[in-house]
Amino acid sequence: MKRLMRKCIENITPYPPGKPIEELERELGIVGSIKLASNENPSGPSPKAIRAIKENLNNIHRYPDGSCYYLRQKLAKKFGLPMSKIIAGNGSNEIIKLVVHTVLSPDEEVILPLPTFLLYEKVVKSFEAKIVTVPLLNFSIDLPAILTAVSSRTKIIFISNPNNPTGQALNKEEISHFLNALPSDLIVVLDEAYIEFATDPNIASAIELLESYPLLVVLRTFSKAYGLAGLRIGYGFASEMIIDGMNLVRQPFNVNYLAQVGALAALDDDEFVEKTLTLTRDGLEFLYSQLDRIGLEYLPTQTNFFLIKTPLGAQETYQRMLRQGVIVRSMESFGLNDYIRINVGLPEENKRFIKTLEKILS
Ligand SMILES: Cc1ncc(COP(=O)(O)O)c(C=O)c1O
Repeated sequence: MKRLMRKCIENITPYPPGKPIEELERELGIVGSIKLASNENPSGPSPKAIRAIKENLNNIHRYPDGSCYYLRQKLAKKFGLPMSKIIAGNGSNEIIKLVVHTVLSPDEEVILPLPTFLLYEKVVKSFEAKIVTVPLLNFSIDLPAILTAVSSRTKIIFISNPNNPTGQALNKEEISHFLNALPSDLIVVLDEAYIEFATDPNIASAIELLESYPLLVVLRTFSKAYGLAGLRIGYGFASEMIIDGMNLVRQPFNVNYLAQVGALAALDDDEFVEKTLTLTRDGLEFLYSQLDRIGLEYLPTQTNFFLIKTPLGAQETYQRMLRQGVIVRSMESFGLNDYIRINVGLPEENKRFIKTLEKILS
């Protein structure tokens, strides 16, 4: 009998299972639960995006612009780069896959920090390449150890900056030193999904390094600071050579029409982004102070989410919180068995989280 599935598919770990909130509530017999598990923006979507989408609903009988022309034009102006160095995707997730699809062959290696965003591993495994993991050092990405792990087979290095799930970020100097020390024939993907939230002034986007390091790919998303996770739209910057390659393999209409409309409008919504950043900073301050009061360890973050160490263990804490209608992320699938991850919520959600945590711990 022929093997039906490719062998590499058997090695892929399923994405942590999730159910719609409504279904969970029905099963557990609860109402009014809150979700702090997916690093979403609790403020809702950008109001300018909502307005633009409503105004354009009548056009959805047409295929979208396959080149995302106006969005790339606007991004080019915002970031001071030519449109030819910009690609849009069905979430930055799609661009992660496109990079791999475009450059990786099965006999090559990919270096991943451990733990990091789970999708990198999933995508690389489906391309039959070898994964080399480099453990974090004090919850931060260990660039010197990554340099040591580079071999003649290394093709891609993925760096989530700031890193999901730890919230720690590398500064500009560390990144530029790292890029200069690498052989010039491998691709570095710097995933900046949360960079807008960073408060440390030494942390900045690597976009300006694209000029001096042609094999750098920088990824951004509308899912977090702009509150458009459900639309699925992200973007990436790279050399023309890499962008052209990705354009060859992507679907012709990979970014849907309303996503393009919403993202274009959201880029003008500085007020919404500012409000989101203030809400996040205030929320973190509140949560940190409450965790200090309770006496729980946590990892101060450069993002809108952070890790909390729990005496009950990740899974038990997750389960008990869930039964109280507070959905957090157990870090067991990331190998951090004593930690949960939460994103900052609205002020009343943050208060409810703390109250519930105290209740389940007592
Ligand atoms: C590090 C990182 N990159 C990318 C993404 C996904 O972004 P998108 O919604 O644009 O696909 C996430 C989402 O959680 C993430 O944590």
